[in-house]
Amino acid sequence: MAIRQIRTIGDEILTKKCKPVKEMTPRTRELIEDMYDTMYQANGVGLAASQVGILKRIVVIDVEDGNRYTLINPEILETSGSQTGYEGCLSVPGKTGIVTRPMYAKVRAYNEDMEPYELEGEGLLARAICHECAHLEGQLYVELVEGELMDTVPDEEEEE
Ligand code: NI
Repeated sequence: MAIRQIRTIGDEILTKKCKPVKEMTPRTRELIEDMYDTMYQANGVGLAASQVGILKRIVVIDVEDGNRYTLINPEILETSGSQTGYEGCLSVPGKTGIVTRPMYAKVRAYNEDMEPYELEGEGLLARAICHECAHLEGQLYVELVEGELMDTVPDEEEEE
């Protein structure tokens, strides 16, 4: 268990495409556990491996629905609907912006035992799936922001 350093916007690694995971190794398992630790410590709902400097197609998500999802080599199969709302990213600290995303997303991925599974998400989970999968392509949400990127209100999290 360890907290890893979160790379922030301007770091070139965030613009790079991540590579598929071919097999599970103790080192990759440790990376995944560290990604959860790092995400929870930063109060995030999702984290991609590139955000901690590793160019592997691994995403962790926890939108506080009672589950945690590890998506290895995720592929978005289907999206529908749309939602427009505020989005943030641990790699763009202190900022938020309005982004339109699908309301529903279905993804195929591998779990930590490299077994394939499918995950369907609506609302925040769909938003997180799309946001994190974009990280694996080297894309940040700031490219999609409608209008200006804004400063987050410091008390915002406490109000929710
Ligand atoms: Ni992000």
